[in-house]
Amino acid sequence: MASIKINDYISWTGVHDEMLRRFDIVMETAEGTTYNAYIIKGKDKTVLIDGSKTGFGEQWLANIREVTPIEDIDLVVIQHSEPDHASAFNVLLDIKPDLEFYGSTLALANLKEIVNRPINAHVIKPGETYDLGGLTLKFLITPNVHWPDTIMTYVPELKVLFSCDFLGEHYSFESLYHSKLKSKKTYDHYFKHYYDSIMAPMARFVNLALNQLKPLEIDMVLPSHGPVLDTKEAVNYALRKYSEWSVIPKNEVPQVVIAYCSNYGYTKAIAETMYQSIVETGVGVKMYDIIEVPEQKVVKEILAADGFLVGSPTIMADVIRPVYDILNSLPIYLVQGKKASAFGSYGWSGEAVPNLITRLKQLRYKVDDEGLAIRLQANASELEQAKQFALTFVSKLK
Ligand SMILES: Cc1cc2nc3c(=O)[nH]c(=O)nc-3n(C[C@H](O)[C@H](O)[C@H](O)COP(=O)(O)O)c2cc1C
Ligand SMILES: [Fe+2]
Ligand SMILES: [Fe+2]
Repeated sequence: MASIKINDYISWTGVHDEMLRRFDIVMETAEGTTYNAYIIKGKDKTVLIDGSKTGFGEQWLANIREVTPIEDIDLVVIQHSEPDHASAFNVLLDIKPDLEFYGSTLALANLKEIVNRPINAHVIKPGETYDLGGLTLKFLITPNVHWPDTIMTYVPELKVLFSCDFLGEHYSFESLYHSKLKSKKTYDHYFKHYYDSIMAPMARFVNLALNQLKPLEIDMVLPSHGPVLDTKEAVNYALRKYSEWSVIPKNEVPQVVIAYCSNYGYTKAIAETMYQSIVETGVGVKMYDIIEVPEQKVVKEILAADGFLVGSPTIMADVIRPVYDILNSLPIYLVQGKKASAFGSYGWSGEAVPNLITRLKQLRYKVDDEGLAIRLQANASELEQAKQFALTFVSKLK
């Protein structure tokens, strides 16, 4: 697809990657994606917003050339440095080595490590603007949606927001414009899929970015992937959905989740004792046998809880895999700082509990004990130990 003129000032100069079926290793992209880039021409200056991916450089270059000679580009705004938008810049630098890049400190530092040559870099300061002649670029510093170096760019005269990956989606559209899409259902599906895969782990930062966008009047959103939101209705829909999805619930009463696996019922008996003792404190508690309950459900409950107790027997000198699968499905940014610990029955070497504790600490949970490991079947005094362990655990919940 060639370049597309959006209005008198802005053109889309992105590329389609319609065959892409997997993004960032784990995200399925059934209908490909686009790497959107835009040229804005003011009376005095011409700016390129964002780049492209290795392998797509020549096509991207051809699209830009339909709008402007490369030599006439005054600056490039690099809104984040993820290689899907930053790995093709050498094709521009080969033509114009002194091209000036505007971005956050980290984006520019990362870019140098991608293009592996010196660049003319300008670090954007908070509140900084750039005058294109009749049009202003207002830079919004919006870290962690989804990379730490992310910024967005707002043009007040046109009421348009270049939103980086925020509000984007992986969908190699047949029409650039949301208003012209054949299926809004398809758009909505990929919009949610993108949020869930890319933005949901950063929910706290999504909220902060949304707060920065609140005072702005936005008629059009130009994201770095997927269709342009060209109606007020589409813009409001997208912002509303992000607001809904990024709510981080606060529990009135502290909530604990106990999740475990158990072969002969010994780890289960420890879990049940802990569960019972927590019930009696009035703290909310839910217990799941990981094998019996869908993984997504358990993960959802763990993410909503304030405290997490995870149990596994030691099997072949380690934690049993379904328990690791749960732990590996917890995004660090959504659990860090919460309280957690581990328990389990073992036969002779007992690696599971210390390994769980290590993993919980890697997830940045607050762990301030060594967990509770009990050899084979817990006797009465060991069950009492489990009870006290659980009571101490809940007493430290905020
Ligand atoms: C296949 C298998 C491998 C095991 N490997 C270990 C091990 O490496 N180290 C250990 O301490 N216990 C090991 N055990 C013993 C279990 O940890 C022990 O039986 C424990 O009490 C089981 O608790 P559960 O009833 O909650 O499953 C193993 C048990 C099985 C069945
Ligand atoms: Fe990205
Ligand atoms: Fe991206």
